[in-house]
Amino acid sequence: MTTYQNLKVEALDGVLFITINRPDKLNALNRLTVQEIGMAIKQGKEDVTVFGMIITGEGQKAFVAGADIKEFIGLSGDQGKEMAKAGQDVFQSIEDCPKPVIAAVNGFALGGGCELAMACHLRIASENAQFGQPEVNLGLIPGYGGTQRLVRYIGKTKAMELTLTAERINAQQALQLGLVNYAVGPDTLIAKCVEILNLIKTKSPFAIAAAIHAVNAYDGTQKGFETELKEFGKCFTSEDIKEGINAFLEKRKANFTGR
Ligand code: COA
Repeated sequence: MTTYQNLKVEALDGVLFITINRPDKLNALNRLTVQEIGMAIKQGKEDVTVFGMIITGEGQKAFVAGADIKEFIGLSGDQGKEMAKAGQDVFQSIEDCPKPVIAAVNGFALGGGCELAMACHLRIASENAQFGQPEVNLGLIPGYGGTQRLVRYIGKTKAMELTLTAERINAQQALQLGLVNYAVGPDTLIAKCVEILNLIKTKSPFAIAAAIHAVNAYDGTQKGFETELKEFGKCFTSEDIKEGINAFLEKRKANFTGR
Protein backbone atom coordinates (compact mmCIF):
# COMPACT_ATOMS: atom_id res chain seq x y z
CA MET A 1 0.00 0.00 0.00
CA THR A 2 1.29 3.47 -0.91
CA THR A 3 2.10 5.72 2.04
CA TYR A 4 2.00 9.48 1.80
CA GLN A 5 3.73 12.21 3.76
CA ASN A 6 1.83 15.28 2.56
CA LEU A 7 -1.50 13.82 1.55
CA LYS A 8 -4.36 12.02 3.24
CA VAL A 9 -5.66 9.44 0.79
CA GLU A 10 -8.71 7.38 1.68
CA ALA A 11 -11.30 5.43 -0.26
CA LEU A 12 -14.91 5.63 0.85
CA ASP A 13 -17.79 4.00 -1.04
CA GLY A 14 -15.81 3.93 -4.28
CA VAL A 15 -14.60 7.55 -4.05
CA LEU A 16 -10.90 8.21 -3.48
CA PHE A 17 -10.51 11.33 -1.33
CA ILE A 18 -7.14 13.01 -1.90
CA THR A 19 -6.58 15.72 0.71
CA ILE A 20 -3.51 17.92 0.50
CA ASN A 21 -2.30 18.01 4.06
CA ARG A 22 0.06 20.91 4.78
CA PRO A 23 -2.47 23.28 6.39
CA ASP A 24 0.18 25.31 8.25
CA LYS A 25 1.61 26.19 4.81
CA LEU A 26 -1.86 26.67 3.31
CA ASN A 27 -1.29 23.37 1.48
CA ALA A 28 1.44 24.89 -0.73
CA LEU A 29 2.69 22.40 -3.29
CA ASN A 30 6.29 21.45 -2.68
CA ARG A 31 7.92 18.93 -5.01
CA LEU A 32 7.06 15.96 -2.83
CA THR A 33 3.39 16.97 -2.66
CA VAL A 34 3.18 17.26 -6.45
CA GLN A 35 4.83 13.85 -6.79
CA GLU A 36 2.44 12.34 -4.23
CA ILE A 37 -0.59 13.78 -6.07
CA GLY A 38 0.63 11.88 -9.13
CA MET A 39 0.95 8.70 -7.08
CA ALA A 40 -2.55 9.11 -5.61
CA ILE A 41 -4.11 9.63 -9.04
CA LYS A 42 -2.34 6.48 -10.26
CA GLN A 43 -3.63 4.62 -7.20
CA GLY A 44 -7.20 5.72 -7.93
CA LYS A 45 -6.87 4.88 -11.61
CA GLU A 46 -5.63 1.36 -10.90
CA ASP A 47 -7.98 0.51 -8.02
CA VAL A 48 -11.01 -1.24 -9.55
CA THR A 49 -13.12 -0.37 -6.51
CA VAL A 50 -12.63 3.37 -7.15
CA PHE A 51 -14.90 5.04 -9.71
CA GLY A 52 -14.04 8.69 -9.06
CA MET A 53 -11.80 11.01 -7.06
CA ILE A 54 -12.12 14.23 -5.09
CA ILE A 55 -9.13 16.49 -4.47
CA THR A 56 -9.37 19.01 -1.64
CA GLY A 57 -7.20 20.86 0.89
CA GLU A 58 -6.92 20.26 4.63
CA GLY A 59 -8.30 23.00 6.89
CA GLN A 60 -10.80 25.81 6.46
CA LYS A 61 -8.58 28.33 4.75
CA ALA A 62 -6.96 26.93 1.64
CA PHE A 63 -7.40 24.46 -1.16
CA VAL A 64 -3.80 25.16 -2.23
CA ALA A 65 -2.07 28.57 -1.94
CA GLY A 66 0.30 27.83 -4.79
CA ALA A 67 3.59 26.16 -5.48
CA ASP A 68 5.90 26.27 -2.48
CA ILE A 69 7.66 29.61 -2.97
CA LYS A 70 10.57 28.55 -0.74
CA GLU A 71 11.55 25.90 -3.30
CA PHE A 72 12.07 28.61 -5.95
CA ILE A 73 15.07 30.03 -4.15
CA GLY A 74 18.29 29.78 -6.16
CA LEU A 75 16.85 27.80 -9.10
CA SER A 76 18.58 28.13 -12.47
CA GLY A 77 16.54 28.55 -15.65
CA ASP A 78 16.91 24.86 -16.43
CA GLN A 79 15.96 23.82 -12.91
CA GLY A 80 12.89 26.09 -13.06
CA LYS A 81 11.86 24.51 -16.33
CA GLU A 82 12.42 21.03 -14.93
CA MET A 83 10.24 21.86 -11.91
CA ALA A 84 7.44 23.13 -14.15
CA LYS A 85 7.71 20.02 -16.33
CA ALA A 86 7.30 17.74 -13.31
CA GLY A 87 4.18 19.71 -12.28
CA GLN A 88 2.77 19.83 -15.80
CA ASP A 89 3.18 16.05 -16.17
CA VAL A 90 1.36 15.29 -12.92
CA PHE A 91 -1.43 17.75 -13.71
CA GLN A 92 -1.74 16.27 -17.21
CA SER A 93 -2.15 12.83 -15.61
CA ILE A 94 -5.15 14.23 -13.71
CA GLU A 95 -6.71 15.68 -16.86
CA ASP A 96 -6.06 12.41 -18.74
CA CYS A 97 -7.40 10.21 -15.95
CA PRO A 98 -10.19 8.00 -17.36
CA LYS A 99 -12.10 8.25 -14.07
CA PRO A 100 -13.72 11.56 -13.10
CA VAL A 101 -11.67 13.78 -10.81
CA ILE A 102 -13.40 16.69 -9.03
CA ALA A 103 -11.67 19.60 -7.28
CA ALA A 104 -13.46 20.58 -4.05
CA VAL A 105 -12.08 24.11 -3.73
CA ASN A 106 -12.37 25.01 -0.05
CA GLY A 107 -10.50 28.34 0.16
CA PHE A 108 -7.48 29.88 -1.56
CA ALA A 109 -6.76 28.34 -4.99
CA LEU A 110 -3.85 30.51 -6.03
CA GLY A 111 -1.08 29.89 -8.54
CA GLY A 112 -0.45 26.13 -8.59
CA GLY A 113 -3.68 25.72 -6.59
CA CYS A 114 -5.77 27.30 -9.33
CA GLU A 115 -3.79 25.22 -11.84
CA LEU A 116 -4.46 22.03 -9.87
CA ALA A 117 -8.19 22.80 -9.76
CA MET A 118 -8.15 23.47 -13.52
CA ALA A 119 -6.49 20.11 -14.22
CA CYS A 120 -9.49 18.35 -12.62
CA HIS A 121 -12.50 17.47 -14.77
CA LEU A 122 -14.95 19.45 -12.65
CA ARG A 123 -14.52 22.22 -10.07
CA ILE A 124 -16.90 22.87 -7.20
CA ALA A 125 -16.12 25.99 -5.18
CA SER A 126 -17.01 26.72 -1.62
CA GLU A 127 -18.40 30.26 -1.19
CA ASN A 128 -15.14 31.20 0.60
CA ALA A 129 -12.94 30.15 -2.34
CA GLN A 130 -10.59 32.63 -3.95
CA PHE A 131 -8.99 31.96 -7.32
CA GLY A 132 -6.01 33.70 -8.87
CA GLN A 133 -2.72 33.46 -10.73
CA PRO A 134 -0.50 35.78 -8.66
CA GLU A 135 2.83 34.59 -10.10
CA VAL A 136 3.72 37.96 -11.69
CA ASN A 137 3.88 39.38 -8.16
CA LEU A 138 6.93 37.12 -7.71
CA GLY A 139 8.51 37.78 -11.10
CA LEU A 140 7.14 34.53 -12.49
CA ILE A 141 4.37 33.18 -14.70
CA PRO A 142 2.07 30.19 -14.14
CA GLY A 143 4.05 27.04 -14.98
CA TYR A 144 1.78 24.09 -14.24
CA GLY A 145 -0.46 24.61 -17.27
CA GLY A 146 -2.20 27.77 -16.03
CA THR A 147 -1.54 29.99 -19.03
CA GLN A 148 -3.19 27.39 -21.26
CA ARG A 149 -6.06 25.97 -19.18
CA LEU A 150 -7.26 29.37 -17.95
CA VAL A 151 -7.67 30.53 -21.56
CA ARG A 152 -9.52 27.30 -22.35
CA TYR A 153 -11.99 27.78 -19.51
CA ILE A 154 -12.66 31.51 -19.37
CA GLY A 155 -11.38 32.79 -22.73
CA LYS A 156 -8.31 34.85 -23.57
CA THR A 157 -9.76 38.22 -22.56
CA LYS A 158 -10.29 37.43 -18.87
CA ALA A 159 -7.40 34.94 -18.69
CA MET A 160 -5.00 37.62 -19.84
CA GLU A 161 -6.44 40.12 -17.35
CA LEU A 162 -6.20 37.76 -14.37
CA THR A 163 -2.69 36.63 -15.31
CA LEU A 164 -1.35 40.17 -15.85
CA THR A 165 -3.03 41.84 -12.86
CA ALA A 166 -2.69 38.90 -10.41
CA GLU A 167 -6.13 39.95 -9.08
CA ARG A 168 -8.13 37.33 -7.21
CA ILE A 169 -11.71 36.40 -7.97
CA ASN A 170 -14.25 34.94 -5.57
CA ALA A 171 -16.46 31.87 -6.02
CA GLN A 172 -19.38 33.80 -7.57
CA GLN A 173 -17.10 35.51 -10.07
CA ALA A 174 -15.48 32.17 -10.89
CA LEU A 175 -18.96 30.73 -11.46
CA GLN A 176 -19.98 33.62 -13.73
CA LEU A 177 -16.78 33.24 -15.76
CA GLY A 178 -17.29 29.49 -16.16
CA LEU A 179 -14.17 28.60 -14.18
CA VAL A 180 -16.20 26.46 -11.76
CA ASN A 181 -19.26 24.28 -12.15
CA TYR A 182 -20.99 25.25 -8.91
CA ALA A 183 -20.47 27.52 -5.90
CA VAL A 184 -21.90 26.06 -2.69
CA GLY A 185 -21.77 26.64 1.05
CA PRO A 186 -18.64 25.30 2.79
CA ASP A 187 -20.71 22.70 4.67
CA THR A 188 -22.12 21.17 1.51
CA LEU A 189 -18.96 21.23 -0.63
CA ILE A 190 -17.97 17.58 -0.30
CA ALA A 191 -21.59 16.40 -0.41
CA LYS A 192 -22.09 18.23 -3.73
CA CYS A 193 -18.95 16.58 -5.17
CA VAL A 194 -20.10 13.14 -4.00
CA GLU A 195 -23.59 13.77 -5.42
CA ILE A 196 -22.11 14.52 -8.86
CA LEU A 197 -19.82 11.48 -8.72
CA ASN A 198 -22.74 9.26 -7.72
CA LEU A 199 -24.68 10.50 -10.72
CA ILE A 200 -21.71 9.72 -13.01
CA LYS A 201 -21.40 6.30 -11.34
CA THR A 202 -24.76 5.27 -12.84
CA LYS A 203 -23.33 5.70 -16.38
CA SER A 204 -21.07 3.42 -18.40
CA PRO A 205 -17.47 3.73 -17.14
CA PHE A 206 -16.31 2.81 -20.65
CA ALA A 207 -18.29 5.71 -22.11
CA ILE A 208 -17.20 8.07 -19.31
CA ALA A 209 -13.53 7.39 -20.11
CA ALA A 210 -14.22 7.91 -23.81
CA ALA A 211 -16.11 11.14 -23.11
CA ILE A 212 -13.27 12.51 -20.93
CA HIS A 213 -10.78 11.74 -23.69
CA ALA A 214 -12.91 13.31 -26.41
CA VAL A 215 -13.83 16.48 -24.50
CA ASN A 216 -10.17 16.93 -23.47
CA ALA A 217 -9.20 16.69 -27.13
CA TYR A 218 -10.94 20.01 -27.86
CA ASP A 219 -8.35 22.40 -29.19
CA GLY A 220 -10.39 24.40 -31.68
CA THR A 221 -9.09 22.37 -34.62
CA GLN A 222 -10.25 19.33 -36.61
CA LYS A 223 -8.15 17.06 -34.35
CA GLY A 224 -10.80 17.11 -31.63
CA PHE A 225 -13.45 15.90 -34.07
CA GLU A 226 -11.14 13.08 -35.14
CA THR A 227 -10.67 11.99 -31.52
CA GLU A 228 -14.46 12.08 -31.09
CA LEU A 229 -14.86 9.75 -34.09
CA LYS A 230 -12.30 7.30 -32.70
CA GLU A 231 -13.83 7.27 -29.22
CA PHE A 232 -17.37 6.98 -30.63
CA GLY A 233 -16.30 3.95 -32.69
CA LYS A 234 -14.48 2.42 -29.71
CA CYS A 235 -17.69 2.50 -27.66
CA PHE A 236 -19.21 0.02 -30.13
CA THR A 237 -16.53 -2.52 -29.17
CA SER A 238 -17.60 -2.45 -25.50
CA GLU A 239 -19.89 -4.72 -23.51
CA ASP A 240 -21.31 -1.59 -21.91
CA ILE A 241 -22.99 -0.44 -25.13
CA LYS A 242 -24.74 -3.81 -25.48
CA GLU A 243 -25.87 -3.64 -21.87
CA GLY A 244 -26.98 0.00 -22.22
CA ILE A 245 -29.05 -0.65 -25.32
CA ASN A 246 -30.54 -3.90 -23.94
CA ALA A 247 -31.45 -2.16 -20.69
CA PHE A 248 -33.16 0.63 -22.62
CA LEU A 249 -35.15 -1.85 -24.73
CA GLU A 250 -36.04 -3.96 -21.69
CA LYS A 251 -37.04 -0.82 -19.73
CA ARG A 252 -34.67 -1.55 -16.86
CA LYS A 253 -31.62 0.03 -15.28
CA ALA A 254 -28.32 -0.78 -16.99
CA ASN A 255 -25.77 -2.82 -15.11
CA PHE A 256 -22.50 -1.53 -16.53
CA THR A 257 -19.16 -3.24 -16.01
CA GLY A 258 -16.86 -0.77 -17.75
CA ARG A 259 -15.77 -3.37 -20.27
N1 COA B 1 4.50 28.81 -0.64
C1 COA B 1 5.08 28.60 0.55
N2 COA B 1 4.52 28.94 1.72
C2 COA B 1 3.30 29.50 1.67
C3 COA B 1 2.62 29.75 0.45
C4 COA B 1 3.29 29.37 -0.73
N3 COA B 1 2.73 29.52 -1.93
N4 COA B 1 1.45 30.33 0.73
C5 COA B 1 1.38 30.44 2.06
N5 COA B 1 2.48 29.94 2.63
C6 COA B 1 2.82 29.87 4.06
C7 COA B 1 3.26 31.21 4.61
O1 COA B 1 4.63 31.45 4.32
C8 COA B 1 2.97 31.01 6.06
O2 COA B 1 3.98 30.23 6.63
P1 COA B 1 4.72 30.67 8.02
O3 COA B 1 3.61 30.62 9.04
O4 COA B 1 5.76 29.61 8.21
O5 COA B 1 5.25 32.03 7.78
C9 COA B 1 1.70 30.18 6.07
O6 COA B 1 1.65 29.56 4.80
C10 COA B 1 0.44 31.00 6.25
O7 COA B 1 0.40 31.99 5.25
P2 COA B 1 0.17 33.55 5.55
O8 COA B 1 0.74 34.33 4.41
O9 COA B 1 0.64 33.89 6.92
O10 COA B 1 -1.44 33.61 5.54
P3 COA B 1 -2.34 34.86 5.19
O11 COA B 1 -3.73 34.47 5.54
O12 COA B 1 -1.79 36.10 5.79
O13 COA B 1 -2.26 35.03 3.58
C11 COA B 1 -2.26 34.25 1.31
C12 COA B 1 -2.76 34.04 2.75
C13 COA B 1 -2.70 33.07 0.48
C14 COA B 1 -2.85 35.53 0.72
C15 COA B 1 -0.71 34.37 1.31
O14 COA B 1 -0.18 33.26 2.06
C16 COA B 1 -0.06 34.33 -0.03
O15 COA B 1 -0.11 35.34 -0.76
N6 COA B 1 0.54 33.20 -0.44
C17 COA B 1 1.26 33.07 -1.66
C18 COA B 1 0.31 32.95 -2.82
C19 COA B 1 1.09 32.86 -4.12
O16 COA B 1 1.76 33.76 -4.54
N7 COA B 1 0.96 31.69 -4.79
C20 COA B 1 1.62 31.45 -6.05
C21 COA B 1 2.96 30.89 -5.84
S1 COA B 1 3.77 30.65 -7.41
